[in-house]
Formats: sequence, C-alpha cells, structure tokens
Amino acid sequence: MTNLTPAQWVKNELLAGRDRQPKTEQANAYAPANIALSKYWGKREATYNLPVTGSLSVSLADHGTHTQLSVIDAPSHEVFLNGQQQAADSGFASKLETWLSLFTPANTKLRIDTRNTIPTAAGLASSASGFGAMSLACNELFGWQLDYTSLSALARLGSGSASRSLWHGFVKWQAGKASNGHDSVAYVLPERWPQLRVGILTVSSASKAVSSREGMGRTIATSKLYEQWPAQANADLETIEQAIMAGDFTRMGETAEHNAMSMHATMVAAWPPLVYWQPESVAAMQQVWQLRQEGVEVYLTMDAGPNLKLLFEADNEAKVLAAFPQLDVIQPFASNVSQ
Ligand code: DP6
Repeated sequence: MTNLTPAQWVKNELLAGRDRQPKTEQANAYAPANIALSKYWGKREATYNLPVTGSLSVSLADHGTHTQLSVIDAPSHEVFLNGQQQAADSGFASKLETWLSLFTPANTKLRIDTRNTIPTAAGLASSASGFGAMSLACNELFGWQLDYTSLSALARLGSGSASRSLWHGFVKWQAGKASNGHDSVAYVLPERWPQLRVGILTVSSASKAVSSREGMGRTIATSKLYEQWPAQANADLETIEQAIMAGDFTRMGETAEHNAMSMHATMVAAWPPLVYWQPESVAAMQQVWQLRQEGVEVYLTMDAGPNLKLLFEADNEAKVLAAFPQLDVIQPFASNVSQ
C-alpha cells in the first residue's frame, strides 16, 4: 500500500524506467464512447477516481473521440475542441491540463486537437472517449509501449468511465482494492452480440446542471438511499455479465434498466436533489414502457443527463424506429468494428 499522489504514482510506478520526452512530433488516436449497463456511481477515493463498485459498459463503435497531439513551441498547451480553441481556464482545458501534468515534462507543450463524432446535443459523456483517446495518443507520442491495462489506469485518472473507453464491445471495469488503483482497471469481455443495438434518444439538449463528478460526490454525502447502492450495483454487474455470456437479452435489458433507475433513485434522494430528467425524458420513458407492453422488447438506460439510451435487438429495430424516428441507432458489434 502506498500513499503516493497520482502524479508520483504515474512517474514512479506506471512509467518507471521510461524516458519522459516525446518520441515523435505527432500522434493520433481514436476511442469510442461507452454506455454503462451497470453503472459507476460513487468513488471510494477521489484523486485516483477509484470506484465503490465495478461497472460494465458497451462501447459505441464510431461514436467517440479522435485526438491529435502535436508537440509545439509555445509557452503553454493549446486545446482545441471540435476545431474551436478552448480558453486555458475552461473546464475542458483545465481538466486536460491537470491530467497532462501527471507525466508531461514542464518544457513539453502540446497542441491537443480533439474531435467528437458524437453529436454534442446528445450530451453524452465525451470525457470517457476523450481521456481514452488521449491515453492512446500519449502512449504513441511518448513511445511508452504501455499495455491497455496500464492505459486504462491512466485514462481513469482523467475520468473514471474513461477506463472503459479503450476497447470496442463489452468492457468491465473491476473496482480493485489497492490505494494507488493499479488493480482498478478495465478489460474487454470476449463475447460479441451482433444483433445488439443501442439507440441514442436525444430528448433535450439542455446543458447538464451538475457534472457526474459533483453529482456522485453529493449523492454519497447526502443520500440515505446510497447505502443500498453498492450491494445492488455488485449484484447487477454479475447478472449482466452472466446474461451477456448466456446471450439472454431479456435479463440483460431488465437488469440494465433497473440498475439505471436505481442509480437515479439515489440521486433524487440527495440534497439538494439531483434530478437529471426533463419532462421529455419521462415522456420518452413512458413510451418505452408502452412499447414493451405491446410486445416490443426495448429497455432504457440513462446517465447524468436528460437523454435516454435504448437497448434492443436487430429484429425490433424497425418498430423502435417507428416509435422514435429521431433515434440514432448504433451497432456496437458491426462487422467493421474490430474488438
Ligand atoms: C453516470 O466517469 O464522468 O455516466 O470519474 O468523476 O470523471 P468522473 O465521472 P464520470 O462518471 C460517469 C457516471 C455515469 C455512469 C457510468 O458511466 O458508469
């Protein structure tokens, strides 16, 4: 057990023995966004983003982040998001700079070009694919040759859910026990599910009032209902993993929806209350439940925002699209998505 700060851990352990200077002038990487079927909600340690429980996600194929890093001769890093330069004190740039300062030599300045292929209005957490792509691009630029397990730990230091964004397909982030988080890393599951569809239902582009980070902190600090969460989250994680292995869509969908609703219940019971839903979100949920009553097997999950993510299989795609014509349908296991 160590009491190292994340920066000390990265320099002394993760990157031990590696030269710190960039090995090339430019590097590019892509990482997909991911949707948790069994959620990460709550940290046991905040500086390392160590979770209370494990979580399991499915990656969103071509919906993610492309990042290009270039070494520049400038006094500070330059951060571009979708082509627009970001002020150094903006939330986005400062989060990136804090993460870069964990390992970047003081005399190395970078231009960071990050482009999201996820429509911004969908309000999908782009920090997961953002830090996933940053970790892959830095591995290239600095020539570290780290394996994906180590890169998962590095990505986690930027944002917890980023630990799951290095792979396509189903990804499990194990909670781990160590104080420096070396065992709190994700790995890809071997199962593929070609019929699985994830629909992004953007019902409101109202900007997120409270970030996931702040929201989970507030929930742990003030929500009595959070006390039951870890036990349920652990059980759901196991059920979902088993359902994936068995190809049992009903069990996977039901458990994922129940998990998301239970997470939201812990949020609503926080103080001040955290209600990420808009009236349109609730209307869409009711429409999903109505569809299910009519025999169309579709489930919903939601994160710290007003939009829904629908889970269904290919044979119901036409019916789901008829009910939600604006749905953005993703095939996480399309043949052109390599795992
Ligand atoms: C509701 O990974 O964005 O999407 O670790 O503080 O950066 P930080 O939080 P973040 O939280 C994601 C929360 C969630 C559930 C999930 O993706 O598992």
